[in-house]
Amino acid sequence: MPYAHITGWGMSIPQKVLTNDDLSKMVETSDQWIQEMTGIRERHIAGESDTSASLGADACFKALKMAGLTPDDVDLIICSTSSPEHIFPATACLIQDQLGASKAGAFDLSAACSGFIYALQTGSQSIKVGDAKVVLVIGAETLSRFVDWTDRNTCILFGDGAGAFVLQASEQPGGIQKGVIHSDGSGGDYLTIPAGGSAHPTSEATLHSGKHFIHMNGKEVFRFATRVLVQSTHEVLAKTGWKVEELKMIIPHQANKRIIDAAARGLNLPIEQFYINLDKYGNTSTASIPIAAVEAAKNKKINPGDKLVFVGFGAGLTWGALAVEWSGPINKPFEKHYITADWYKPWAMIRRIFKRILRMIDSFLFDR
Ligand code: UT7
Repeated sequence: MPYAHITGWGMSIPQKVLTNDDLSKMVETSDQWIQEMTGIRERHIAGESDTSASLGADACFKALKMAGLTPDDVDLIICSTSSPEHIFPATACLIQDQLGASKAGAFDLSAACSGFIYALQTGSQSIKVGDAKVVLVIGAETLSRFVDWTDRNTCILFGDGAGAFVLQASEQPGGIQKGVIHSDGSGGDYLTIPAGGSAHPTSEATLHSGKHFIHMNGKEVFRFATRVLVQSTHEVLAKTGWKVEELKMIIPHQANKRIIDAAARGLNLPIEQFYINLDKYGNTSTASIPIAAVEAAKNKKINPGDKLVFVGFGAGLTWGALAVEWSGPINKPFEKHYITADWYKPWAMIRRIFKRILRMIDSFLFDR
C-alpha cells in the first residue's frame, strides 16, 4: 500500500491588514481586551478581487512548484471551505479551472474549522487505496464576507487566507499516518450561519434579521474546544502507537491562544511545542492549520522526519486529529525540469478563455 507524503505546501494571505486598533474604531472593544482574551493582534481581510478560489489557487501554485509538479499531474482536488464562492459549483472546481488541472476530479468538503483534518484524511485515503497519485488538499476562507462587523463577539476573531498541501504517493514509509475524526450535530447551533441554505432560504426577513452572518456561542465553543483538543490528540497517538514525548510539534487550529494554552496544560507539554501564529492572522478557520504548518516549515520549526499532530475543532460540531511524519519534495517519478507550476498560470488563463470560446461555438452550432 502506498504512503501519502506531504511533498509541497503553500499559503496565500490577502494584503489588507485589520488591526485590533482598527476594530476598536468599529465596535466597543480594545486591543488589550482582544489580545488578553484571544491572543490575536491583527488579521488579514480579503480585498475586492480576492475570493476563496483565488486564494486557494495561489496557494496551490506555490505548493505544486515546491513539489516539482505541474497542475497536469494532479488527480484530485479537495477544497475544504466554509466560505465557498457559491452553494454550487464547488470552489474546488473553480480552483481546478484556475490551475488548468485538466485531469483532476474536484470537490468541496464542509467541516468548518476541522475541515483541513477531514480533507487531509480523505485525500490520503485516495492515495493509500491507489485511486490517486497526486492530491491537492486546500483550506481556503474568506469568512470576513460573512462576519457581522457590528458584532464584537465574532468580528474580532476571524481572518482570511488559504493554505494548500500536495499529497503524493510513495512506497517510502512516512507521511500521513492515522487519523481520527468526530462530530456531534447536537451542538450545531453553537456556531452557524443560519440562513441562505434550504432550511432558511434568502428572504427579506432573513436579510433583516442578520441570519446570513456568523452566529456564535463563544463560551460553549470554548469549553468544547479545550476538551476535544486534548482528547483527540491522545486518541490519534494511541492509534498510531506514538508517545506524546516523540512529537516534535503540535499544529493546532488557531482559534484562541487561551484554548491552545489549556490544551498544552492538558497534554502536559510546554507551550513552545505548539505552533502558534494566530496573533498575525486571527482565526482563518479551515485554513489555519495549513497556514501554520507552512510557516512552521519556513521557519524550520518542523523538518522532514519530524513527528507531528495536526488537531482541529469547529462548527458542526466537528473535531479531529492526524498523526503526520513531515516529508518534503520527493520529485520522483513526477519530476519536471522544464515546465514549472508558474508556467501554468498564464497557460491556465489562456485555456480558460479558449474553453469558454469553444463552448460558445459548440452551443451556436448545436442550436442551429
Ligand atoms: O473556530 C472556532 C471559532 N470559535 C471560537 O474558537 C470561539 C471560542 N470562544 C472564545 O474565543 C471566547 O468565547 C471569546 C473570546 C469569543 C469571548 O470570551 P469569553 O470569555 O467567552 O467572553 P464573554 O463572551 O463571556 O464576554 C465577557 C465580557 C462580557 O461583558 P460582561 O457581560 O461581563 O460585562 C462581554 O460583553 O466581555 C465582553 N466582550 C467584549 N469586550 C470587549 C465580549 N466581546 C468583547 C469584545 N471587546 N470584543
